[in-house]
Amino acid sequence: MSSRNLDFTRRSLLKTAALVPLASGAVGQEADASNSLKSKAARRGITFGCGVSAPQIAKDQAFRAAVMADCAEIVPWAEMKWGFLEREEGSLDFSSADALVQFAHANSLKIRGHTLVWYNNLPPWVPQALAGPDGRRFYETHIRTVLSHFGTKVVNWDVVNEAIEPNDKLPGSYRNSPFLKRFGPDYIPHAFEIARSVLPHTPLYYNDYGIEYNFQGSKRDAVLELLSSLSKRGLVDGLGIQSHLKIGLWFDAKAFRSFLADVASLGLSILLTEFDVNDMRAPADIATRDREVADHAFRYLETTLDEKAVKGLVAWGLSDRYTWLDVPPFARRDGLPSRGQPLDAKLQRKPLWDAIARALDGAPVRPS
Ligand code: G3I
Repeated sequence: MSSRNLDFTRRSLLKTAALVPLASGAVGQEADASNSLKSKAARRGITFGCGVSAPQIAKDQAFRAAVMADCAEIVPWAEMKWGFLEREEGSLDFSSADALVQFAHANSLKIRGHTLVWYNNLPPWVPQALAGPDGRRFYETHIRTVLSHFGTKVVNWDVVNEAIEPNDKLPGSYRNSPFLKRFGPDYIPHAFEIARSVLPHTPLYYNDYGIEYNFQGSKRDAVLELLSSLSKRGLVDGLGIQSHLKIGLWFDAKAFRSFLADVASLGLSILLTEFDVNDMRAPADIATRDREVADHAFRYLETTLDEKAVKGLVAWGLSDRYTWLDVPPFARRDGLPSRGQPLDAKLQRKPLWDAIARALDGAPVRPS
């Protein structure tokens, strides 16, 4: 990522974990705790949170305060992924993830687990190890070890991430991943089975992107089929819809609302797990761009939050100060920083913050 990505040391994060005040306003903003995204969400029975990385929390006090002000939950961007935990075979390093867990607990935030099985961000040794004679052991040990390590400190898990990819043109629309190559589609239910056996009371999610817009209908169908087969076996508790939105794509509210109802009818919860808005196709002018981002987001959130099975909303980065949207090929071609997060780079609220607030205020109350 960019030079904004600060170096992380475990010691500094552990030190800050205990020091962060319990509730503080975002920089320069009123400290009215009820006028925060987490309070607005909580009033509707929804959890609002954001994705973070350990260096941001360790080193950026103003950002930490912004997280505390608006969020009831954090999700590690990368620190719980296999590629982060076990770069070398057999040498596990939980320090960054543990520090985030400790920060969350010291400050009464929930923390979600993301993610156990993902084709991306694997340690370099894993694809070959999976393909070898001990492949099954490596796979199962990874899932068991990570879940046992965090236990019930993590509120729920994205067990499998991004396993459907119709463009790979395989039966069932499964993604052509090292897991699929080695084990076939059974690797998915098997991961959930292991997770259930280690943590029987922790809600387990299947998480994916690319189902938010109509042209992604075949992926929606494949995800629904996967969920249906997992839920028949009692293996899955919910769907994580990443919600990486993009200006310029047409959001068909009616079709998506009916997809959400189909998921809910399986008895599953839904979380919006990585919400943000890519503005690369919006005009450079900031006022116009912010308005387009807010309008696009509002249409999406008004629709999704209308479904009572949707219980959580996680912004994938709270502010434009830290965002993956500035990394090519997702970044704007004119080099301008993206404005797809609720706070700007100075941690000031933007029209997108207001749009999220408005959508939360208008959402029906979830049964407790
Ligand atoms: O924290 C380390 C830092 O200590 C080190 O100096 C630096 C040097 O590269 O790396 C930092 O870690 C980076 C980490 O993000 C935290 O910022 C990793 O290099 C970088 O590879 C990692 O990228 C993450 C990516 O997933 C791969 O894991 C992005 O932040 C994260 O936003 C992105 O998230 C994915 C979701 O998991 C799945 N859906 C798509 C989404 C966006 O790609």
